Amino acid sequence: MKKHMSLLLLIIFLATSPGLKGFKIKEPAYQKKTSYSPEQSYVFEIIKNRRTVREFKSTPVPEEHVLKILEAAHFAPTAGNQQPWKFLVIQDRVQLDLLSEAALDWYADKYERQKNVSQEEIQNLRVRLEKILKKVLSAPVYVAVLVDSHAKYPDYILYDGTLAAGYMMIAARSLGYGTGFFTTFFPEKQMKEFFQIPDRYKLICFSPIGVPVQWPETPPKKDIQDLIVFESF
Ligand SMILES: Cc1cc2nc3c(=O)[nH]c(=O)nc-3n(C[C@H](O)[C@H](O)[C@H](O)COP(=O)(O)O)c2cc1C
Repeated sequence: MKKHMSLLLLIIFLATSPGLKGFKIKEPAYQKKTSYSPEQSYVFEIIKNRRTVREFKSTPVPEEHVLKILEAAHFAPTAGNQQPWKFLVIQDRVQLDLLSEAALDWYADKYERQKNVSQEEIQNLRVRLEKILKKVLSAPVYVAVLVDSHAKYPDYILYDGTLAAGYMMIAARSLGYGTGFFTTFFPEKQMKEFFQIPDRYKLICFSPIGVPVQWPETPPKKDIQDLIVFESF
């Protein structure tokens, strides 16, 4: 009896599961809406639960997932549909460890040049940075989002690149991965030298893709009411 019950429940679940019914994007309903379909709610949940992640498990990310995520990224809108992107994918652990060492030097050099600091302070900074970079570079996959300055509408490439990075982060979240829009430790000039990126490309961000050690709490977000202005200021 119990066995039959479980089977019946499984059949009901499979029959009503959104994945099996075929995904249809609904037309917007222009009446006031207070409830949303599971598919609609899922999209909002994914967006809300995307987090910047700064420490990862070594769990591999299949290349198929990387391609799926980047495919989503390339559906982002671009000026005149110019699609000026290159997604530089780095999966080689040796290369990432070398990057970690290099990034440490880049940051320490910058710190040294900006401030009148003692050798001891620099050493302390290096120790702290080493720990941070080890975590930040612990994911199995990284994507450098690049845009081509020779594109047709170069004035818009930063927007195009940033939108693709946003799409990429949302798509990765839907597959259970954490990401980040990293800039500070990975300055464009040094990154271009390190990865031999041709001069024409501009670095938008360097993003990990990986399973978080733990999902961070949502950082404080402003009250949406304070951000919306209807019609006119
Ligand atoms: C333009 C930009 C630059 C950022 N640079 C860095 C960075 O260098 N290092 C970092 O850890 N996070 C960086 N972030 C991520 C933000 O710190 C993060 O999005 C913010 O704290 C909100 O957290 P959430 O992404 O989890 O909502 C950057 C984000 C943006 C949009």
